[in-house]
Amino acid sequence: MKKRYLGTIEVSEIGMGCMAFSHGYGRIPPEDYSIEAIRNAYEYGCTLFDTAEVYSPNLSGIGHNEKIVGKALKDVRKDIVLATKLFIDRSDVRRDGSVYKAVRHHLEDSMQRLQTDYVDLYYLHRTSGSVSVGEVAEAMGQLIDEGMIRGWGLSQVDENVIARAHQVTPLSAVQNIYSMVERDVEKAVIPYCLKHGIGVVPFSPIASGLLSGKITVNTQFDTNDDVRNWVPQLSRRNIEGNQPIIDLIGKYAEMKQATSAQISLAWMLKKYPNVVPIPGSKNKERIIENLSATEVKLSDEEFRDLDQALSRLKVYGHRGFTR
Ligand SMILES: NC(=O)c1ccc[n+]([C@@H]2O[C@H](COP(=O)([O-])OP(=O)(O)OC[C@H]3O[C@@H](n4cnc5c(N)ncnc54)[C@H](OP(=O)(O)O)[C@@H]3O)[C@@H](O)[C@H]2O)c1
Repeated sequence: MKKRYLGTIEVSEIGMGCMAFSHGYGRIPPEDYSIEAIRNAYEYGCTLFDTAEVYSPNLSGIGHNEKIVGKALKDVRKDIVLATKLFIDRSDVRRDGSVYKAVRHHLEDSMQRLQTDYVDLYYLHRTSGSVSVGEVAEAMGQLIDEGMIRGWGLSQVDENVIARAHQVTPLSAVQNIYSMVERDVEKAVIPYCLKHGIGVVPFSPIASGLLSGKITVNTQFDTNDDVRNWVPQLSRRNIEGNQPIIDLIGKYAEMKQATSAQISLAWMLKKYPNVVPIPGSKNKERIIENLSATEVKLSDEEFRDLDQALSRLKVYGHRGFTR
Protein backbone atom coordinates (compact mmCIF):
# COMPACT_ATOMS: atom_id res chain seq x y z
CA MET A 1 0.00 0.00 0.00
CA LYS A 2 1.11 3.60 -0.60
CA LYS A 3 2.69 5.39 2.34
CA ARG A 4 2.05 8.64 4.14
CA TYR A 5 3.69 10.38 7.09
CA LEU A 6 2.42 11.22 10.55
CA GLY A 7 5.11 13.72 11.46
CA THR A 8 8.18 11.64 10.61
CA ILE A 9 6.49 8.26 11.13
CA GLU A 10 5.81 6.37 7.90
CA VAL A 11 2.47 4.52 7.73
CA SER A 12 0.22 2.91 5.15
CA GLU A 13 -2.13 5.46 3.62
CA ILE A 14 -5.11 3.79 5.35
CA GLY A 15 -4.78 2.37 8.85
CA MET A 16 -6.95 0.06 10.90
CA GLY A 17 -9.13 1.07 13.83
CA CYS A 18 -9.22 -1.92 16.18
CA MET A 19 -11.72 -0.63 18.77
CA ALA A 20 -14.75 -2.66 17.67
CA PHE A 21 -13.05 -5.95 18.57
CA SER A 22 -13.64 -4.83 22.16
CA HIS A 23 -16.10 -1.96 22.35
CA GLY A 24 -18.52 0.37 20.67
CA TYR A 25 -20.34 -1.61 18.00
CA GLY A 26 -22.25 -4.23 19.92
CA ARG A 27 -21.34 -7.89 20.26
CA ILE A 28 -17.60 -8.56 19.92
CA PRO A 29 -16.20 -11.43 17.83
CA PRO A 30 -14.29 -14.38 19.32
CA GLU A 31 -10.67 -13.46 19.98
CA ASP A 32 -9.30 -15.86 17.32
CA TYR A 33 -11.44 -14.17 14.68
CA SER A 34 -10.23 -10.69 15.73
CA ILE A 35 -6.58 -11.78 15.68
CA GLU A 36 -6.94 -13.29 12.22
CA ALA A 37 -8.72 -10.15 10.96
CA ILE A 38 -5.85 -7.95 12.20
CA ARG A 39 -3.26 -10.28 10.65
CA ASN A 40 -5.13 -10.24 7.34
CA ALA A 41 -5.02 -6.44 7.35
CA TYR A 42 -1.26 -6.59 7.92
CA GLU A 43 -0.84 -9.13 5.09
CA TYR A 44 -2.81 -6.78 2.85
CA GLY A 45 -0.29 -3.98 3.54
CA CYS A 46 -1.78 -2.09 6.46
CA THR A 47 0.94 -0.88 8.84
CA LEU A 48 -0.95 1.48 11.18
CA PHE A 49 -2.98 -0.13 13.98
CA ASP A 50 -4.99 2.01 16.36
CA THR A 51 -6.05 0.98 19.87
CA ALA A 52 -6.43 2.56 23.35
CA GLU A 53 -6.05 1.46 26.96
CA VAL A 54 -9.79 1.98 27.58
CA TYR A 55 -11.13 -0.14 24.72
CA SER A 56 -12.83 -2.91 26.67
CA PRO A 57 -16.40 -4.24 26.69
CA ASN A 58 -18.67 -1.41 27.90
CA LEU A 59 -15.49 0.55 28.71
CA SER A 60 -15.68 -1.22 32.06
CA GLY A 61 -12.12 -2.51 32.21
CA ILE A 62 -8.71 -1.69 30.83
CA GLY A 63 -6.65 -3.26 28.07
CA HIS A 64 -8.94 -5.83 26.40
CA ASN A 65 -8.23 -4.38 22.95
CA GLU A 66 -4.52 -3.76 23.49
CA LYS A 67 -4.05 -7.41 24.44
CA ILE A 68 -5.72 -8.59 21.21
CA VAL A 69 -3.69 -6.16 19.09
CA GLY A 70 -0.50 -7.18 20.89
CA LYS A 71 -1.12 -10.89 20.33
CA ALA A 72 -1.99 -10.37 16.67
CA LEU A 73 1.07 -8.30 15.81
CA LYS A 74 3.89 -9.43 18.11
CA ASP A 75 5.64 -11.41 15.35
CA VAL A 76 5.70 -8.43 12.99
CA ARG A 77 6.26 -5.74 15.59
CA LYS A 78 9.18 -4.06 13.83
CA ASP A 79 7.24 -3.72 10.56
CA ILE A 80 4.22 -1.91 11.94
CA VAL A 81 3.20 1.29 13.69
CA LEU A 82 1.36 0.78 16.97
CA ALA A 83 -0.77 3.66 18.19
CA THR A 84 -2.42 3.67 21.59
CA LYS A 85 -3.94 6.28 23.90
CA LEU A 86 -4.13 7.23 27.56
CA PHE A 87 -6.41 9.20 29.81
CA ILE A 88 -4.79 11.07 32.68
CA ASP A 89 -6.08 13.28 35.47
CA ARG A 90 -4.78 14.86 38.68
CA SER A 91 -5.44 11.75 40.77
CA ASP A 92 -2.93 9.81 38.60
CA VAL A 93 -0.43 12.60 39.12
CA ARG A 94 -0.91 12.67 42.88
CA ARG A 95 -0.35 8.91 43.04
CA ASP A 96 2.81 8.97 40.93
CA GLY A 97 4.29 12.27 42.02
CA SER A 98 4.70 13.90 38.59
CA VAL A 99 2.92 14.11 35.25
CA TYR A 100 5.89 12.39 33.62
CA LYS A 101 5.75 9.47 36.07
CA ALA A 102 1.98 9.17 35.67
CA VAL A 103 2.16 9.12 31.86
CA ARG A 104 5.03 6.65 31.99
CA HIS A 105 3.03 4.42 34.33
CA HIS A 106 0.14 4.26 31.80
CA LEU A 107 2.60 3.69 28.96
CA GLU A 108 4.40 0.81 30.70
CA ASP A 109 1.07 -0.92 31.36
CA SER A 110 0.06 -0.49 27.72
CA MET A 111 3.43 -1.78 26.50
CA GLN A 112 3.06 -4.89 28.60
CA ARG A 113 -0.38 -5.62 27.14
CA LEU A 114 0.86 -4.84 23.62
CA GLN A 115 3.90 -7.14 24.13
CA THR A 116 6.35 -4.46 23.06
CA ASP A 117 9.09 -2.29 24.54
CA TYR A 118 8.11 0.87 22.64
CA VAL A 119 4.99 2.51 21.27
CA ASP A 120 5.19 4.33 17.95
CA LEU A 121 2.45 6.85 18.53
CA TYR A 122 1.12 7.70 21.98
CA TYR A 123 -2.00 9.85 22.12
CA LEU A 124 -3.59 11.78 24.92
CA HIS A 125 -7.13 10.42 24.40
CA ARG A 126 -8.83 13.55 25.77
CA THR A 127 -7.49 16.66 27.43
CA SER A 128 -8.34 16.87 31.11
CA GLY A 129 -9.41 19.92 33.11
CA SER A 130 -6.92 19.03 35.83
CA VAL A 131 -3.67 18.33 33.90
CA SER A 132 -2.56 20.90 31.34
CA VAL A 133 -1.70 19.84 27.82
CA GLY A 134 1.66 21.59 28.23
CA GLU A 135 2.58 19.31 31.14
CA VAL A 136 1.60 16.25 29.11
CA ALA A 137 3.59 17.56 26.13
CA GLU A 138 6.69 17.87 28.33
CA ALA A 139 6.27 14.32 29.60
CA MET A 140 5.83 13.03 26.05
CA GLY A 141 9.02 14.85 25.02
CA GLN A 142 10.94 13.07 27.76
CA LEU A 143 9.53 9.69 26.71
CA ILE A 144 10.56 10.38 23.11
CA ASP A 145 14.10 11.23 24.31
CA GLU A 146 14.20 7.96 26.25
CA GLY A 147 13.12 5.94 23.18
CA MET A 148 9.94 4.67 24.80
CA ILE A 149 7.71 6.33 22.21
CA ARG A 150 8.52 7.52 18.70
CA GLY A 151 5.96 10.30 18.57
CA TRP A 152 2.87 11.62 20.27
CA GLY A 153 -0.56 12.92 19.45
CA LEU A 154 -3.77 14.50 20.70
CA SER A 155 -7.37 13.48 20.11
CA GLN A 156 -10.55 15.61 19.77
CA VAL A 157 -8.80 18.95 20.14
CA ASP A 158 -9.03 22.35 18.48
CA GLU A 159 -6.24 24.31 16.82
CA ASN A 160 -5.46 26.36 19.96
CA VAL A 161 -4.72 23.28 22.04
CA ILE A 162 -2.73 21.79 19.16
CA ALA A 163 -0.63 24.95 18.89
CA ARG A 164 0.06 25.07 22.66
CA ALA A 165 1.14 21.43 22.71
CA HIS A 166 3.16 21.57 19.49
CA GLN A 167 5.26 24.43 20.86
CA VAL A 168 6.39 22.29 23.80
CA THR A 169 6.95 18.97 22.01
CA PRO A 170 6.23 18.71 18.27
CA LEU A 171 3.21 16.52 17.56
CA SER A 172 3.19 13.65 15.07
CA ALA A 173 -0.58 13.37 14.72
CA VAL A 174 -3.97 14.70 15.70
CA GLN A 175 -6.81 12.16 15.83
CA ASN A 176 -10.18 13.88 15.49
CA ILE A 177 -13.56 12.84 14.14
CA TYR A 178 -13.69 13.54 10.41
CA SER A 179 -15.91 12.31 7.62
CA MET A 180 -18.13 13.64 4.86
CA VAL A 181 -20.72 14.43 7.55
CA GLU A 182 -18.32 15.76 10.24
CA ARG A 183 -16.22 18.43 8.60
CA ASP A 184 -15.39 20.85 11.45
CA VAL A 185 -11.67 20.08 11.20
CA GLU A 186 -11.50 21.44 7.67
CA LYS A 187 -11.77 25.01 9.00
CA ALA A 188 -8.66 25.33 11.16
CA VAL A 189 -7.34 21.99 12.46
CA ILE A 190 -6.30 20.46 9.15
CA PRO A 191 -4.84 23.75 7.80
CA TYR A 192 -2.78 24.13 11.02
CA CYS A 193 -1.57 20.53 10.80
CA LEU A 194 -0.70 20.85 7.11
CA LYS A 195 1.34 23.97 7.81
CA HIS A 196 3.23 22.38 10.70
CA GLY A 197 3.90 18.88 9.32
CA ILE A 198 1.43 17.13 11.63
CA GLY A 199 -0.56 14.13 10.40
CA VAL A 200 -4.35 14.03 10.78
CA VAL A 201 -5.90 10.66 11.64
CA PRO A 202 -9.67 10.79 11.11
CA PHE A 203 -11.65 8.53 13.40
CA SER A 204 -15.14 7.35 12.45
CA PRO A 205 -14.31 8.18 8.78
CA ILE A 206 -17.32 6.18 7.55
CA ALA A 207 -19.56 8.00 10.08
CA SER A 208 -20.07 4.81 12.09
CA GLY A 209 -21.25 3.00 8.95
CA LEU A 210 -23.69 5.64 7.62
CA LEU A 211 -21.53 6.47 4.60
CA SER A 212 -21.38 2.83 3.50
CA GLY A 213 -25.00 3.23 2.41
CA LYS A 214 -25.81 -0.04 4.19
CA ILE A 215 -27.68 1.54 7.12
CA THR A 216 -31.40 2.25 6.69
CA VAL A 217 -34.12 3.48 9.03
CA ASN A 218 -34.92 -0.18 9.68
CA THR A 219 -31.40 -1.17 10.78
CA GLN A 220 -31.44 -2.46 14.36
CA PHE A 221 -28.35 -1.64 16.39
CA ASP A 222 -27.23 -3.76 19.33
CA THR A 223 -28.83 -2.86 22.63
CA ASN A 224 -25.55 -3.21 24.54
CA ASP A 225 -22.35 -1.13 24.06
CA ASP A 226 -23.26 0.22 20.63
CA VAL A 227 -22.45 3.88 19.92
CA ARG A 228 -24.80 3.85 16.94
CA ASN A 229 -27.67 4.29 19.39
CA TRP A 230 -26.51 7.85 20.07
CA VAL A 231 -24.43 8.93 17.03
CA PRO A 232 -26.60 11.88 15.91
CA GLN A 233 -26.51 11.20 12.15
CA LEU A 234 -27.92 7.73 12.82
CA SER A 235 -31.19 8.66 14.46
CA ARG A 236 -34.11 7.54 12.31
CA ARG A 237 -34.98 11.13 11.34
CA ASN A 238 -31.40 12.00 10.46
CA ILE A 239 -30.82 8.85 8.42
CA GLU A 240 -33.73 10.04 6.27
CA GLY A 241 -32.41 13.62 6.20
CA ASN A 242 -28.95 12.44 5.13
CA GLN A 243 -30.26 10.28 2.27
CA PRO A 244 -29.23 12.83 -0.42
CA ILE A 245 -25.61 12.51 0.80
CA ILE A 246 -25.82 8.72 0.69
CA ASP A 247 -27.32 8.89 -2.81
CA LEU A 248 -24.56 11.20 -4.01
CA ILE A 249 -21.86 8.84 -2.70
CA GLY A 250 -23.73 5.90 -4.25
CA LYS A 251 -23.64 7.62 -7.64
CA TYR A 252 -19.86 7.97 -7.45
CA ALA A 253 -19.53 4.39 -6.22
CA GLU A 254 -21.35 3.16 -9.29
CA MET A 255 -19.32 5.37 -11.60
CA LYS A 256 -15.99 4.24 -10.09
CA GLN A 257 -17.03 0.60 -9.61
CA ALA A 258 -16.27 0.95 -5.94
CA THR A 259 -18.30 0.75 -2.75
CA SER A 260 -19.71 3.79 -1.00
CA ALA A 261 -17.41 3.25 2.00
CA GLN A 262 -14.44 3.27 -0.39
CA ILE A 263 -15.60 6.53 -2.01
CA SER A 264 -15.87 8.20 1.40
CA LEU A 265 -12.25 7.22 2.16
CA ALA A 266 -10.90 8.00 -1.34
CA TRP A 267 -12.45 11.49 -1.05
CA MET A 268 -10.50 12.40 2.08
CA LEU A 269 -7.26 10.86 0.77
CA LYS A 270 -7.55 13.00 -2.33
CA LYS A 271 -8.48 16.10 -0.38
CA TYR A 272 -5.48 16.23 1.99
CA PRO A 273 -2.00 14.69 1.73
CA ASN A 274 -1.55 14.50 5.52
CA VAL A 275 -4.74 12.54 6.24
CA VAL A 276 -4.55 8.84 7.21
CA PRO A 277 -8.03 7.46 8.03
CA ILE A 278 -8.49 4.51 10.39
CA PRO A 279 -11.82 2.90 9.44
CA GLY A 280 -13.09 0.41 11.98
CA SER A 281 -14.77 -2.89 11.24
CA LYS A 282 -15.03 -6.25 12.97
CA ASN A 283 -15.75 -7.98 9.68
CA LYS A 284 -12.81 -9.53 7.77
CA GLU A 285 -14.20 -8.79 4.30
CA ARG A 286 -15.10 -5.18 5.05
CA ILE A 287 -11.67 -4.55 6.59
CA ILE A 288 -10.05 -5.47 3.27
CA GLU A 289 -12.71 -3.53 1.34
CA ASN A 290 -11.85 -0.42 3.34
CA LEU A 291 -8.08 -0.84 2.97
CA SER A 292 -8.47 -1.28 -0.77
CA ALA A 293 -10.04 2.19 -1.01
CA THR A 294 -6.41 3.13 -1.62
CA GLU A 295 -6.93 1.71 -5.15
CA VAL A 296 -9.88 4.00 -5.87
CA LYS A 297 -8.60 7.10 -7.61
CA LEU A 298 -10.79 10.15 -8.10
CA SER A 299 -9.65 12.43 -10.93
CA ASP A 300 -9.26 16.14 -10.12
CA GLU A 301 -12.54 16.85 -11.85
CA GLU A 302 -14.44 14.00 -10.16
CA PHE A 303 -13.12 15.10 -6.79
CA ARG A 304 -14.01 18.75 -7.35
CA ASP A 305 -17.57 17.92 -8.44
CA LEU A 306 -18.08 15.54 -5.52
CA ASP A 307 -16.65 17.96 -2.97
CA GLN A 308 -18.74 20.85 -4.28
CA ALA A 309 -21.91 18.75 -4.35
CA LEU A 310 -21.25 17.62 -0.77
CA SER A 311 -20.77 21.18 0.40
CA ARG A 312 -24.20 22.09 -0.96
CA LEU A 313 -25.98 19.32 0.99
CA LYS A 314 -27.22 19.84 4.53
CA VAL A 315 -25.95 17.39 7.14
CA TYR A 316 -28.58 16.15 9.59
CA GLY A 317 -27.02 15.49 13.00
CA HIS A 318 -23.68 16.76 14.24
CA ARG A 319 -21.37 15.17 16.77
CA GLY A 320 -18.50 17.63 16.82
CA PHE A 321 -15.84 17.62 19.53
CA THR A 322 -18.12 16.70 22.40
CA ARG A 323 -17.71 12.92 22.72
N1 LIG B 1 -9.87 9.07 19.32
C1 LIG B 1 -11.11 8.78 19.63
O1 LIG B 1 -11.71 9.37 20.51
C2 LIG B 1 -11.81 7.69 18.86
C3 LIG B 1 -13.21 7.56 18.93
C4 LIG B 1 -13.82 6.55 18.18
C5 LIG B 1 -13.05 5.70 17.40
N2 LIG B 1 -11.69 5.83 17.37
C6 LIG B 1 -10.85 4.97 16.51
O2 LIG B 1 -11.30 5.10 15.15
C7 LIG B 1 -11.59 3.82 14.61
C8 LIG B 1 -12.70 3.94 13.59
O3 LIG B 1 -13.84 4.60 14.11
P1 LIG B 1 -15.30 3.94 14.20
O4 LIG B 1 -15.15 2.47 14.22
O5 LIG B 1 -16.00 4.62 15.27
O6 LIG B 1 -16.02 4.43 12.88
P2 LIG B 1 -16.17 4.02 11.34
O7 LIG B 1 -14.94 3.39 10.84
O8 LIG B 1 -16.67 5.26 10.70
O9 LIG B 1 -17.40 3.01 11.36
C9 LIG B 1 -17.44 1.75 11.93
C10 LIG B 1 -18.82 1.16 11.64
O10 LIG B 1 -19.03 1.14 10.23
C11 LIG B 1 -19.24 -0.19 9.76
N3 LIG B 1 -18.44 -0.34 8.54
C12 LIG B 1 -17.11 -0.15 8.43
N4 LIG B 1 -16.73 -0.37 7.15
C13 LIG B 1 -17.85 -0.72 6.47
C14 LIG B 1 -18.10 -1.08 5.12
N5 LIG B 1 -17.13 -1.11 4.23
N6 LIG B 1 -19.38 -1.39 4.75
C15 LIG B 1 -20.38 -1.35 5.64
N7 LIG B 1 -20.21 -1.01 6.95
C16 LIG B 1 -18.94 -0.71 7.36
C17 LIG B 1 -18.76 -1.10 10.86
O11 LIG B 1 -19.54 -2.28 10.86
P3 LIG B 1 -18.86 -3.75 10.78
O12 LIG B 1 -17.98 -3.87 11.97
O13 LIG B 1 -20.05 -4.64 10.84
O14 LIG B 1 -18.13 -3.82 9.48
C18 LIG B 1 -19.01 -0.26 12.11
O15 LIG B 1 -20.36 -0.42 12.51
C19 LIG B 1 -11.90 2.95 15.84
O16 LIG B 1 -11.70 1.58 15.59
C20 LIG B 1 -10.94 3.48 16.86
O17 LIG B 1 -9.66 2.88 16.71
C21 LIG B 1 -11.08 6.82 18.08
